[in-house]
Amino acid sequence: MDVLINVFVALHIIGIASLLGGFLTQMKAMGAGTARFSPAMLHGALTMLVTGVALVGLNQADDQTVNNLKIGIKLAVLVVILGLVYVKRDEEKVDKGLFAAVGGLTTANIFIATLWV
Ligand code: HEM
Repeated sequence: MDVLINVFVALHIIGIASLLGGFLTQMKAMGAGTARFSPAMLHGALTMLVTGVALVGLNQADDQTVNNLKIGIKLAVLVVILGLVYVKRDEEKVDKGLFAAVGGLTTANIFIATLWV
């Protein structure tokens, strides 16, 4: 079970890489107001949701305690991220503030995941 959980943590991290990478590589474009929500960002956010839910189930099946408040907050933040990226996925240019918000919320979730024990 430990190996399976660790495989899903790895997939979870690949999801972060895709979502945050899509943001970081467009910071210059964001400054010019020409950044867009790339497919990598949408698929990264979806990967976070699927692997996160799987991790909750796997940890509970393995009788490991899951911090429900922390997970609930991460889920709520991700739902906002996913909603924004999904709705604006076909727009060729996304407003600077909106694009920055997605990067900021993703970064906030990383710190919630790592600093909150
Ligand atoms: C942008 C969104 C998210 C980010 C950046 C993120 C980040 C992370 C990171 C860095 C870890 C590994 C560190 C650790 O073990 O605490 C992790 C683990 C985990 N994540 Fe996420 N996560 C996100 C969304 C979610 C969602 C939506 C769920 C569940 C619905 C979830 C559930 C979990 C679980 C169960 C673990 C296993 C470790 C634990 O007990 O906390 N994550 N996440």
